[in-house]
Amino acid sequence: MQATITRIITLLLISFVMMSCRGQMSDKPPIHPQQNMDEQERFNAQQVNPFFEDNRSMRMPVEGTISRGNLRHDTALFEGVNDNGDFVTRNPIEINREFIERGRVVYDIYCQVCHGGTGDGQGIIMTEGYGYVPAPTFHREASYDMPDGELYSAIANGIRNMPAYNTQIKVEDRWAIVAYIRALQRSQNIPESEMTQFDVDLAVLIEEDAQERVRLEELAAARAAGASDEVSVERGERLYVQNACTACHSQDGSRLVGPSFLNLYGAERNFTDGTSQIADEDYLIESIVEPDALIVEGYDNVMLAYDYLSESELQSLVEFIRSLSDN
Ligand code: HEC
Ligand code: HEC
Repeated sequence: MQATITRIITLLLISFVMMSCRGQMSDKPPIHPQQNMDEQERFNAQQVNPFFEDNRSMRMPVEGTISRGNLRHDTALFEGVNDNGDFVTRNPIEINREFIERGRVVYDIYCQVCHGGTGDGQGIIMTEGYGYVPAPTFHREASYDMPDGELYSAIANGIRNMPAYNTQIKVEDRWAIVAYIRALQRSQNIPESEMTQFDVDLAVLIEEDAQERVRLEELAAARAAGASDEVSVERGERLYVQNACTACHSQDGSRLVGPSFLNLYGAERNFTDGTSQIADEDYLIESIVEPDALIVEGYDNVMLAYDYLSESELQSLVEFIRSLSDN
């Protein structure tokens, strides 16, 4: 009897002790009597491994290995570049009417809001004054001269301030857009005499074009009417932000798409044509309304003309730029 009671008490005690382990917090690792293969020597991804000559723990596939399923061997198709890394000049996909129609659909979804229905850069985001970096027109020499691969790359990788569309637009559709942009470019350069061969009513087109021009002129007039004559550094700074000059020109000396405005006023500028000039008021205004005229050395000719800014807006911008300079 005595022995039975002792046994029961002992069992109760043991189970009590075991139960009491649960629910208690501890910083120490849990007791792990059965190790299996939980702890063993191994390398983590990207860890240095001195065993191999190149110190990589992650090994490259054996030479000649061929990917199954995700092979992107055709760089012309997937990246728009040839083996030398140059942009391909021609669309690698065969062009037919259906393909161009597909391009139109995708272009109208993704590009039209900024680059405009005809590719003139007057999409609704641009003309309603949301303060986005202006989208270039596709109807200018620089765009005509762009190889097809570069247009493709702009969609796949983005370009300067324009984001990439690779996650939204599939490879074939990107090329379809390229074909459609080429069609848009041709469509804006057809002599009236040749228009007769197409199934369009020229009079209606001319009327629509005139209406669009009136709309844009009214927008510009409304802008001008609402604008004040004030010339000040503060207004210049507001314009600098509202017109998204910030995307390409910094105030702190750092290089973006374009030169910084820090200490620009009064500094000597060198241009790609070999000439140079001091950045005075006239130069700055010309740079804004006619950026094609002189291209600062070391930069690309990618700034679009802000020829719609009023006199007092331009002067305010100059005052703002001047305020960032010790000269
Ligand atoms: C949100 C507005 C926006 C959308 C949408 C957009 N773009 Fe752009 N795109 C821009 C801007 C802004 C630039 C100029 C960027 C810069 O210079 O920093 C640009 C530049 C480009 C350029 C370079 C043109 C040149 O002459 O330098 C190409 C090509 C282009 N876009 C094609 C496309 C295509 C194709 C689509 C549709 C898939 C598209 N963009 C959609 C705003 C847009
Ligand atoms: C898409 C990028 C971009 C935007 C937006 C832009 N610029 Fe530029 N800008 C440039 C580049 C690139 C250059 C240098 C090449 C050249 O001379 O055209 C430049 C040159 C200039 C220069 C001459 C600078 C120098 O170092 O001599 C001035 C002034 C200027 N921009 C003012 C403006 C103002 C003001 C705005 C806004 C209303 C603006 N830019 C918007 C890209 C841009």
